Amino acid sequence: MNASEEPRAIEPGGLSSAAIKQCCAAVYDSDAVRLLLGGTLHPGGTALTERLGVMLNLGPRARVLDVAAGRGTSAFTLAMRFGCEVIGLDYSRRSVEAAKRDAAARGLSSTVSFCCGDTERLPFADGSFDAVVCECALCTFPDKRTATAEFARVLRAGGRVGLSDLTRQGLLPPELESLAAWIACIADAQPLAEYASLLAAAGFKIKTTEEHNGALIDFVNHIRTRLLVTEVMLGLNKLALPGFDIAMVKDFTQHALAVIKAGKLGYAIVTAAKEG
Ligand SMILES: C[S@@+](CC[C@H](N)C(=O)[O-])C[C@H]1O[C@@H](n2cnc3c(N)ncnc32)[C@H](O)[C@@H]1O
Repeated sequence: MNASEEPRAIEPGGLSSAAIKQCCAAVYDSDAVRLLLGGTLHPGGTALTERLGVMLNLGPRARVLDVAAGRGTSAFTLAMRFGCEVIGLDYSRRSVEAAKRDAAARGLSSTVSFCCGDTERLPFADGSFDAVVCECALCTFPDKRTATAEFARVLRAGGRVGLSDLTRQGLLPPELESLAAWIACIADAQPLAEYASLLAAAGFKIKTTEEHNGALIDFVNHIRTRLLVTEVMLGLNKLALPGFDIAMVKDFTQHALAVIKAGKLGYAIVTAAKEG
């Protein structure tokens, strides 16, 4: 079971926000997605996570919350690179349990810990973190205002938030407006200025923005290469991925690449400080 909650607003595809979160958590922890994406679930991989850590001035005394941490790749990267304490939270209980096992196996349980929860209702006291990191996930949250207000609530005054996320300009083709596209971080991606205004509305002062569109192109090309290998393995019966529609995913990545190259989708980092 994932983080529990009552059904709320109805979102795309007629699904409640709870159903969208459950769907997103299940997809990102599925064998097919882990096979296609590898360990890191966002463009730019651990190098962009380190860049975010530098922009947030993380250091050994910082207490950091990684929101929507998945299986913890970024949390481990930040703890090892900057010496900070990191708590990773994710909606998927399966991902959290896998991350906890990994922390124990690496001997990192005293500096990196994980818990299951919902970004829109963070299970932490006010002002209990120096920094909040949220990579490639705000775009999937049905209620972005509540999520960013929660980031502000759990940060101390002067604490920093760092987002990295898909950015979007204008209308996309219908193939990229589906529920699958929502979960793939595309359908509800926002323009960079909208992420900045969400943070400003939550009481943050914007510090830096950086575009990393090349990282998104590399990421989609990496997925397309892995799709080809997967197709061969499936054809040779060396692999079984029940329910995985490879033709649909190939088609989807082709559409995504076209809109990225047309400048309608990109990837960016935003950092901001809590005022007061
Ligand atoms: C694209 S993955 C990003 C994972 C990680 N941040 C990374 O960059 O490697 C999106 C993650 O968001 C999590 N997620 C989705 N909705 C959530 C919510 N409301 N609260 C917490 N986690 C959520 C999913 O379970 C999934 O692990």
